[in-house]
Amino acid sequence: MRGHWREFVRRTEYKAEIQRFLNGPSSQKALRQELVEKFLHISSQVPCSHAESDILRIADFILRLPRDLTGDVVESGVFKGGASCKLSLVAAATGRRLILCDSFHGFPKDADKEDARLSEGEKLGTLDEVKRNVSLYGDPSVVEYVPGWLEHTLPELRATGRVLVAVFEDTDLQDPATVCIKLLYPLLQPGGRIFTHDVMFPMALAAYRDREVWGALDIHAPPKLVIVRKAIFRRTGALGYVTKPKAREQVRVRA
Ligand SMILES: C[S@@+](CC[C@H](N)C(=O)[O-])C[C@H]1O[C@@H](n2cnc3c(N)ncnc32)[C@H](O)[C@@H]1O
Repeated sequence: MRGHWREFVRRTEYKAEIQRFLNGPSSQKALRQELVEKFLHISSQVPCSHAESDILRIADFILRLPRDLTGDVVESGVFKGGASCKLSLVAAATGRRLILCDSFHGFPKDADKEDARLSEGEKLGTLDEVKRNVSLYGDPSVVEYVPGWLEHTLPELRATGRVLVAVFEDTDLQDPATVCIKLLYPLLQPGGRIFTHDVMFPMALAAYRDREVWGALDIHAPPKLVIVRKAIFRRTGALGYVTKPKAREQVRVRA
């Protein structure tokens, strides 16, 4: 009985989210319809560690950005590349690039010390696997790969001064979530967003509310963390975000 109820909630929410996405600007009707069909196909072909609703929310945000607002999209924590395939289609449709950052070796050593649900090497998607999935189901022409531990690779990305409009942070762990905030938030355009899928991982989520993390950017009050969805049952979705204020502000990473 509980299983039926869970499935009922999932399907009802799922239908409502798809409808919400399809109700976007009328000029994007055909594009949005096509994206939903492709997203569902991707989910049937590639193991995904997200609910459809999570990516629909991120896609909706990117599709609503002004076309003349420059900036790319980052996904940090990609697993088999299910979300990457979907976001590559959105990036291609909006003239942006998608940067995929992952160890491509799964979770790091000692992940279980932070959260007993995680273990070293779990959520492994190799670089070859992800590239293959993106080639089969996404748009490889807009995708760039940054392999390695985020703690090592993001400082280099930060140094390039790339301009971003959206980040999908989905590492489930506190240290990589923290480096994403410290190194990618400064690259965001005003009005840009870091979406986090770590809503169900208290240690990682804590980074978004940590005054010290934001203080390192000379931001003395952490920006509001909006929790869009908190999974009632597994697969009903879990997503939060912080938005960079539109007012001009100076952010600086301390040495
Ligand atoms: C939950 S999975 C990502 C799911 C994916 N976004 C999706 O929607 O299907 C978490 C990913 O984070 C990566 N990861 C975790 N900690 C990392 C770190 N410190 N550096 C690089 N990658 C890391 C793992 O390799 C794994 O692929």
